[in-house]
Amino acid sequence: MPADLKNKTAFITGAAHGQGRATAIALAKEGVHIAAFDIAKQLKYPGYALGSVDELESLKKEIEELGVQCIIHKGDVRNDNDITTAIKGSQSQFKKIDILFNNAGICAYGLAHELTEEEWDAMIDINLKGPWLVARRIIPLMIQQRSGVIINNSSVAGLRGMNRLSHYAASKWGLTGLTKSWAIELAPFNIRVVSIHPTGVNSPMNDGLAILENSTPPEIAERSAGNLMNVPWVEPEDVANAVVFLASDNCRFVTGSQFVLDAGLLSK
Ligand SMILES: NC(=O)c1ccc[n+]([C@@H]2O[C@H](COP(=O)([O-])OP(=O)(O)OC[C@H]3O[C@@H](n4cnc5c(N)ncnc54)[C@H](O)[C@@H]3O)[C@@H](O)[C@H]2O)c1
Repeated sequence: MPADLKNKTAFITGAAHGQGRATAIALAKEGVHIAAFDIAKQLKYPGYALGSVDELESLKKEIEELGVQCIIHKGDVRNDNDITTAIKGSQSQFKKIDILFNNAGICAYGLAHELTEEEWDAMIDINLKGPWLVARRIIPLMIQQRSGVIINNSSVAGLRGMNRLSHYAASKWGLTGLTKSWAIELAPFNIRVVSIHPTGVNSPMNDGLAILENSTPPEIAERSAGNLMNVPWVEPEDVANAVVFLASDNCRFVTGSQFVLDAGLLSK
C-alpha cells in the first residue's frame, strides 16, 4: 500500500547526516514537508564529527528539489530555547507537525566504572532527555490536532545489554520506556508512539566510533552486533524506509510497540 503521506509535515532531530538525513529525504519523496533540526557542530564528547551547517544547507536544497518545503534549524536537543524557536518557525511555515522523528543521538564507549560524570550526563541528556524536551513542546500541538506520530530512534541497545556501552544502553532503554508510556498518555488523542531498534547502521556515527576506537567501521558494527544475516550493518535508507512505513496510515493501529530492524541480531 502507498504510504499516503502527501502534504504532511515532519520535525526531524539529528537531520544533518546519517539516519536523520536519509529519513528526511525518504519522507520528502513521499511529499512530506520537512523541519530539519541539528546541532550542526562538533562536541567535545563524543568527539567524532557530528552534522554540519553545510550538510543542513545541502539537505534543504536536496529536499526542495523534490518539490516539498524544507526549513532548517541549528540547535541542541538539550536546549529548550533552541527547540521552541525551531518549533515556532516550523509552525509558522507549516501550521502543523504530523510526524516527530526523535533521532538525534550520540554514542561512545567506556566501562561504567571509568566513565566521568560529564560523559554520563552528556549521553543521557542528549539521547534521553533531549527527546523528551522536544516531544513536550510538540505533543500539545498534536493534541490540538487530534493526530500525530512520534517515532523514537532507540537501538538494539534499547532491548539488550551492551559491553562498554552501559550509559548508551541506559539512554536507549529509557527511550523504550518513554515510548510505551507516551503511547498510553496519547492514544486518547489519536497520537501514536513507536520506537525503532536498528542494529549497527552504516552512518557517520559508526565511522566516528571507528576512529575513536582505532578500529574499522565494519569492526565497530560487528562488535556490538552479531547479525544473523550476513551483513555488518544496515544502511540509513533501511531505517528511513521503516520510518516511512511506521509514520503512514498503514500502521494506523501500531502504537507503544518496538520495531526491531536488526538483521536477526536479537533472535539469538
Ligand atoms: N549508527 C548506529 O549504528 C546506530 C544503531 C542504532 C541506533 N542508532 C541511533 O540512531 C540515531 C541516529 O544515529 P546516526 O547513526 O544517524 O548517527 P550520526 O552521528 O551519523 O548522526 C546523528 C545526528 O544527530 C546530531 N546530533 C547529535 N547530538 C545532537 C544534539 N545534542 N542536538 C541536535 N542534534 C544532535 C548530529 O549532529 C548528527 O547529524 C541516534 O540516536 C543513534 O543512537 C545508531
